[in-house]
Amino acid sequence: MRLLVLGTAAGGGVPQWNCACPGCAAARAEPGWRRRHASIAVEAGEGRWYVVNATPDIGEQIEECAALRPGPARRATPVAGVILTDAELDHTLGLPRLREAPSLRVVATATVRTALSEGLRLDRVLAPYAGLTWTELPEKEGEALDGGPLEVQGIRVSGKRPRYAADLEETGGGAWVVALRVRDRRDGKVVVYAPALAAWPDELDRALHDADCVFVDGTFWDDEEPRRSGFSGRSSTEMGHLPIMGPHGTVGRLAAVPGARRYYTHLNNTNPLVDPGADGHGLLAASGIEVARERAVIEL
Ligand code: MLT
Ligand code: MN
Ligand code: ZN
Repeated sequence: MRLLVLGTAAGGGVPQWNCACPGCAAARAEPGWRRRHASIAVEAGEGRWYVVNATPDIGEQIEECAALRPGPARRATPVAGVILTDAELDHTLGLPRLREAPSLRVVATATVRTALSEGLRLDRVLAPYAGLTWTELPEKEGEALDGGPLEVQGIRVSGKRPRYAADLEETGGGAWVVALRVRDRRDGKVVVYAPALAAWPDELDRALHDADCVFVDGTFWDDEEPRRSGFSGRSSTEMGHLPIMGPHGTVGRLAAVPGARRYYTHLNNTNPLVDPGADGHGLLAASGIEVARERAVIEL
């Protein structure tokens, strides 16, 4: 299995356009601090890739990864489609950026599809450009994607809706946020990608039992970070993100996942870990955990 890390930041990125917090300010001066919106790509066969979550940076993210650039035919793209873990704007605004394609395959739960179709009206807006071809992300068990080598499955990890979908009628039983599990039939390798975790259900542990690589919500270092940094009145947990440290912290659960490469991703620009020299990196390393690196190529 081959993976590309396309970005590792939460909504806004690092730096965020309207933010002069220490992390964003440092990222303007130091390229090593910069992080694009969180996303990975998974290889689905020779020269075919699925991108997981379509971020506002998707155009640059494709250009920055040689494997995702078009060619050799003039309009041939290795990007076979997009898999969505949720309907948040930082994970879906990239879809309109891909409108130059004749059609776009999007894999998502019925709930996420409804949010995008009814809440953002994406089908109607994009229809004159690129028609969206929807595939439902299965939740019960992994199912082959596209008749190719990848099996995909969503595991519910949060019922938190995007703010724009607050009043939307719900379909699909509330699968607003899932962890994505992908198994490659060619080598049996498994990756689990969970950039937003409001809870750590037993189903997630089951999905992780044979994982070779895991990406977990690293939005906030601790529960008070959003309030302390003054941009929200809500705690990390109240915002739908289990923090890394503290009583609800994920670090112990992640450290306990046996035999997998373990990464945090989706870092908010207030997270002290955006500093490459922060003490927190050493603390995580002691538990066998790293912050995912921008543009990393991961071979499992
Ligand atoms: C999240 O990760 O919770 C969302 O991206 C936040 C938001 O955009 O409101
Ligand atoms: Mn987000
Ligand atoms: Zn900032």
